[in-house]
Amino acid sequence: MSNPSLLILPGDGIGPEVMAEVRKIIDWFGAKRDLQFDVSEDLVGGAAYDKHGTPLHDDTMAKAQEVDAVLLGAVGGPKYDNLDFSVKPERGLLRLRKEMDLYANLRPAQCFDALADFSSLKKDVVAGLDIMIVRELTSGIYFGEPRGIFEEGNERVGINTQRYTESEIDRVARSAFELAMRRGKKVCSMEKANVMESGILWREVVTEVGKDYPEVELSHMYADAGAMQLCRWPKQFDVIVTDNLFGDLLSDAAAMLTGSLGMLPSASLGAPMENGRPKALYEPVHGSAPDIAGQGKANPIACILSFAMALRYSFDQGAEADRLEQAVETVLAEGKRTADLLGDEGATPVSTAEMGDAIVAALDASL
Ligand code: NAI
Ligand code: MG
Repeated sequence: MSNPSLLILPGDGIGPEVMAEVRKIIDWFGAKRDLQFDVSEDLVGGAAYDKHGTPLHDDTMAKAQEVDAVLLGAVGGPKYDNLDFSVKPERGLLRLRKEMDLYANLRPAQCFDALADFSSLKKDVVAGLDIMIVRELTSGIYFGEPRGIFEEGNERVGINTQRYTESEIDRVARSAFELAMRRGKKVCSMEKANVMESGILWREVVTEVGKDYPEVELSHMYADAGAMQLCRWPKQFDVIVTDNLFGDLLSDAAAMLTGSLGMLPSASLGAPMENGRPKALYEPVHGSAPDIAGQGKANPIACILSFAMALRYSFDQGAEADRLEQAVETVLAEGKRTADLLGDEGATPVSTAEMGDAIVAALDASL
């Protein structure tokens, strides 16, 4: 059987810097766990524009469709700010998401014990937190028609339309239940069925899908109440599934329960391919951080944890994903911090490469 394939797209700014650390981790799994990947690397974003005049070459797009998983760094930067909209670095990322039809966006909110003090919430509220928000990514109010700014009488009216088909709700709900089966077996679905018809349909379809997963405990919550509960006692949740708009807000809020942008991974999954694996794009939540690019200051953990998600969700290596996350926890518990994790404490930060090396050392120690 051939090795699973992985396409790496480092992108711009700190993207290549954090990806270099992921490369060390991938090499470690090859050497020490006999876990080989067919890794290829290509350009995306500004880097692709510089070479090809487009933020995503057709050949790269085709490759992304073929591989088992894509791992992306970040795109964009001031150098490209004045480019025409159609060739902006972000368009490369959007094209990937759209053409791969990645409808389920997974944003974990996970609190490493060593960073519990870093949260704006009380330590016991966030310590040990491990929840997953599944946001519908390809439909809803960001795409629904009619949309636009129209003249009506003697004033303008701005219109956006929340629109969901049953099949769109069904497929993202299934992603959420499948995830819950591998986790804490709880799904909480959030909408506003009290004031939105699309929310009523959402609730009905999710309930219907839930019947295929009798082991999973399903609950429903209005999204505004959900926002409150996320701040009050987030540990009550396992998997939260919600639409594009509410998911945008709730996942940002939940992510910040646990600290720095430099710690946050994500995955975007689509339909299962012939080999049963979902189409998949893994990427840190952060951008290209031009303010610190090229200085060895970037925290590589968000990108490394994105690779851990790939191990778990694309490569069926849950135990190895646990091992990698545990190595991150170990390094943090040792007190190693990149600058973004230090706040105003004034301690000496470790560099991007030192953090990567420390995680590799912790992996070694785990054997
Ligand atoms: P950003 O996420 O790049 O940076 C925001 C702040 O967080 C900066 O102060 C940065 O130094 C810090 N930061 C981010 N990641 C970090 C890490 N790994 N370690 C330490 N500190 C980190 O967002 P910003 O500044 O709004 O955007 C910069 C560029 O990135 C823009 O061109 C934007 O369009 C692009 N961008 C790309 C994204 C992507 O590729 N998915 C997402 C967000 C922004
Ligand atoms: Mg957002």
